[in-house]
Parts: sequence; C-alpha cells; structure tokens
Amino acid sequence: MPCSWRTSDLQLLLMLTVFLVAECISASSNSTQQLVSSRNRNSSQPPVEVDISLPVLVDTKAVLSCPPILSTNVLITTWEIFVGDKPPCIRTHRRDPNKISKINCTDERMTWLYRPDQIPALQIDPVAITHEGYYRCTVATPIGNFHHGYQLQVLVAPEVTLFQSEHRSAVCKAVSGRPAARISWTPEGDCVPAYEYWSNGTVTVQSMCHWADGNVSIVSCSVFHETGNWSRSIELNPGAKTSKTLIILYSILPIIIVVIMGFVWLLKIIGCRKYKLKKTEPTPGVEEDEMQPYASYTEKNNPLYDTTNRVKTSQVLQNEVDGMNIHTL
Ligand SMILES: *[C@@H]1O[C@H](CO)[C@@H](O)[C@H](O)[C@H]1NC(C)=O
Ligand SMILES: *[C@@H]1O[C@H](CO)[C@@H](O)[C@H](O)[C@H]1NC(C)=O
Ligand SMILES: *[C@@H]1O[C@H](CO)[C@@H](O)[C@H](O)[C@H]1NC(C)=O
Ligand SMILES: *[C@@H]1O[C@H](CO)[C@@H](O)[C@H](O)[C@H]1NC(C)=O
Repeated sequence: MPCSWRTSDLQLLLMLTVFLVAECISASSNSTQQLVSSRNRNSSQPPVEVDISLPVLVDTKAVLSCPPILSTNVLITTWEIFVGDKPPCIRTHRRDPNKISKINCTDERMTWLYRPDQIPALQIDPVAITHEGYYRCTVATPIGNFHHGYQLQVLVAPEVTLFQSEHRSAVCKAVSGRPAARISWTPEGDCVPAYEYWSNGTVTVQSMCHWADGNVSIVSCSVFHETGNWSRSIELNPGAKTSKTLIILYSILPIIIVVIMGFVWLLKIIGCRKYKLKKTEPTPGVEEDEMQPYASYTEKNNPLYDTTNRVKTSQVLQNEVDGMNIHTL
C-alpha cells in the first residue's frame, strides 16, 4: 500500500512540473505582448493575460475551460469576469467541501459546467453581445496557481443585401454585423461607403457604387466577415437614356389620353348634328321630342307627294288607255 501511494504522489509531482514548465514558456513568450498592452491600459482595467482570443457567435453556447489539471489536485477554482464598465464578477468553486460562491455576479446565463474528472468550466448560454470581455480562470493547487485567460469576442453575422439604384448604380449592404463587414466589388466601380453604428453594438456597412462604363452589365458584391463570406450579383439597368424616355412617356401618356377622349367627344357632337339634320323618321328615346316637329312635317308632306304621284300614274294610264282606244278605233 505505501508503495502505491508513493507512485501516485510521484505522478502528481511529475504532472505539476510539466504544467509549471509549460506555464513558464507561455509566460515568457507572452511577456513582451503583456508589457505593451499593460502600458496601453490604465490600472482600473483587468490584469492583462490575453492567452486565448475566443470568437463566439451570438446566441450560441460558449464553454470556457480552466487549465487542464486533474480535478483531484485542485483546491479552489476562481473565475474573474470583466465585462463592460461593471465591477468584476467573481465566482469560486471549492472542491472539498464542495461549495460555490459568487460576488457581484447577476447574469443568469453564466453557470458552472460540471464534467467528470475535470475542473468545472464556465458556461455562457446563450451568448449576448454584452458578454464580450475578459474571462480569467485561476486554479489553486497545493503547489501554486495556474491561469487561463480568454478575450471573448462576440460575432454577429450580417444580413447581406444587394439592390439596384438609379442611373447604373447598385447598393450592397451588410446589415447589423459585428465586427463591421468588408465589402468589395467586381468590377470595381465608383463607390461611396457608409457606416451605421447601432446602440446594441452592431454595425451596418453600406457601399453604393456607380459604373459609368456602359459595357458593364453584371456586377458582384462580396462581403467578407469573421462569420463567413457572401457574394451577390445583379444586372445593372441598360442606362439612363431608357429610363429618361420612360419617364417622358409616363408623363405625356395622360395628356395623350385626354386629347383622344376630347377628340372622340368632339366627333360625337358633330356626328349628332349631322344625324339630326339627316334624320327623317322619329326615333325612340331622348331624341324623340326633338325629332317631333320634323316628323310631323314629313307626315304632312307625304300625302302631297303621294297625290302627285297618283296623278302622274293615272295620267300615264289615261294616255295608254287613250292609245289603245285609238288602235281599236
Ligand atoms: C461589487 O460591486 C460593488 C459596486 O457595485 C463594489 O463596491 C464592490 O467592491 C464589488 N465587490 C467586489 C468584491 O468586487
Ligand atoms: C441590433 O440593432 C439593430 C437595429 O435596431 C437590429 O436590426 C439588429 O437585429 C440588432 N442585432 C442584435 C444582435 O441585437
Ligand atoms: C467597352 O467597349 C469598347 C468598344 O465597344 C471597348 O473599346 C472597351 O475596351 C470596352 N471596355 C471595357 C471595360 O470592356
Ligand atoms: C473569407 O474570405 C477570406 C479572403 O478570401 C478568407 O481568408 C476566409 O477564409 C474566408 N472565410 C470563410 C469563412 O470562408
């Protein structure tokens, strides 16, 4: 039994030595970087030990691990969380007896994540833009403390849109991205960029371009972002000339319609007048009253016409009868 105890103790010692050496190497390699950054920060800000840059997509689950030390060798695990202007939130986990505590931590989305044979990790679910900051885990062991630091960066994928604008122009937009997206065009045009910063920490990037060269018909906009790259294409309208003629056509169309309607109306009036003059019979409807005098006139006239006709025919008949009479005579 005492022999087995000794071997496990040796193993532990060996492991800790390895970690200490690793820590020393990483510390020496980071020392220049730390010097530079600590000069840039004032004393009120968190201790700078940016070991790991951790980009995380918004609305996903993030798990931050402490140094990989066998959990049985750990006395206390501490997370210090520096987010925004708030005082740091400190969470501690004591292994024996099992006890957790927290100071100035109000965020319900942050919890301990317990895993077998491992030091409990810090879980953030879901990640919000406000979680961006510095997270530091300190593991206290009988032979010293070990650290892991994370600079958490929250990414938001932009929504990419491309649409036509007037006069051979197009607008490419990367809406509400974090950090700001980069936009480029093929072929290159005459572009004007614009940035819109939202209060929630996202940025809308817009690029409006113009292609004076009439040869260019299809343009592509490429959006580069930490969350992915997008490409969209669009066909430019044939040119300003066509659109101008269209505008002219649209503006004079009502005038043409009015003129045609007026002409038709005029024709109708003229037609009515002629019709009234030529009309010889009464017609039903509205015009009946107007036609009445003419109608009675023709009616009065007709017997006269008939009588003269009758006279003429009777005369012809009489002549023929007379001729026959002569023949027979
Ligand atoms: C907790 O926050 C308050 C201010 O809200 C501050 O006065 C106090 O020092 C903080 N506690 C710790 C342990 O940082
Ligand atoms: C940020 O705000 C903009 C504008 O109000 C909104 O369109 C966008 O969805 C918001 N994004 C996030 C991640 O909250
Ligand atoms: C556009 O077309 C003209 C001739 O039609 C040609 O000389 C010129 O090189 C073309 N430009 C581009 C960018 O293709
Ligand atoms: C986006 O494009 C850049 C430049 O071409 C490339 O380095 C990067 O890996 C691309 N990212 C993704 C997610 O495809």
